[in-house]
Amino acid sequence: MRITLKKHLPEYVTILMNILGIESSCDETAAAVYTDSGLKSNVVASQTIHEKYGGVVPELASRAHQQTIWATVEQALEEAKLRPDSIDAVAVTQGPGLMGALLVGICFAKGFSLTHGSRLVGVNHMDAHIYANFIDQTPEFPFLSLTVSGGHTQLEYVSEPFKHKILGKTRDDAAGEAFDKIGKILGLPYPAGPVMDRRSQNGDPKFHAFPKALLGEGLDFSFSGLKTSVLYYLQRQGDEQEQLDFLNRHTDDLCAAVSEAITEALVRKLGAAIRQTRCKNIFLAGGVSANSMLRAKTKALAAEQDAKLYIPKMAYCTDNAAMIAITGHMLARRGTFSDLGMKAFARVGG
Ligand code: KG4
Ligand code: ZN
Repeated sequence: MRITLKKHLPEYVTILMNILGIESSCDETAAAVYTDSGLKSNVVASQTIHEKYGGVVPELASRAHQQTIWATVEQALEEAKLRPDSIDAVAVTQGPGLMGALLVGICFAKGFSLTHGSRLVGVNHMDAHIYANFIDQTPEFPFLSLTVSGGHTQLEYVSEPFKHKILGKTRDDAAGEAFDKIGKILGLPYPAGPVMDRRSQNGDPKFHAFPKALLGEGLDFSFSGLKTSVLYYLQRQGDEQEQLDFLNRHTDDLCAAVSEAITEALVRKLGAAIRQTRCKNIFLAGGVSANSMLRAKTKALAAEQDAKLYIPKMAYCTDNAAMIAITGHMLARRGTFSDLGMKAFARVGG
């Protein structure tokens, strides 16, 4: 028999739990259900409205979240075959992300919690990308995580659940941001990361050696120089028409060469972090972990270093609520809950 965790029970009670996860930090409205027996549903509604603007428009993102959030949650509950009253806790992305977009998810979660007597769990979006690796794998602590998304790029040492030490991070653009911005220069639609990945499969990674910013021996990253170097390289091909002709002939090659520069910088730093920490458990996390070149290079690195590699399934790489629900489940099992005073945070630490 299942016992339902309701608000009046003390936080340390460890009983069976059904968690509804909600994600709305950027341009995906997502809901998922995770229970003690695993993931039950994972629904993502991607906003396409931003494509024509070449990037996410925050106000449009908030409105679109508002329009789809209830239907997304309903579908997640339906697929999980659970009624709203069976949800013991609602886990919701608290940040980092777009303030207005986060508020839609948080307000919805608070309303749901008040209506159905479920508890609240605030989840850090970047931690959730990492814990997505636990959805259908059973990794052990400690581990090193290369967390690469549209807003963040960092190397973390995770000694135990929720104890993260940042070993290195980007000093300017995040890896996903580099893919998107360089893709825009090459005339690709937003978000360019997945398009670049596809097109680079028909191109030559050695077509041109773009700089791999390695910033000496440290574990920090930098990608803004690469963006400038691609722009200048293109301008050197001649006038506007000549540049377009060059792009028409070589977009696949340019995508491959840029992907090579980005992924090589990421993987070399990951290799340095393995040597520095002697940690042989490694994770890829975040939207850019969907990148095929990065996945292949990381697999080769893991084999060479005799390390165990964990990569999330494609569906859990880019933003989703399954990662929020499992992280909420891990927090709830530790007795970590939030209350109705929970606030959104746009940036880490703020
Ligand atoms: O984690 P995510 O979905 O959202 C953030 O938290 O930022 O990551 C989105 C980023 C975008 O920059 C997107 O272009 C990039 O991940 N991305 C990729 C691929 N799939 C998504 N970049 C390269 N190759 C991919 N296959
Ligand atoms: Zn994300």
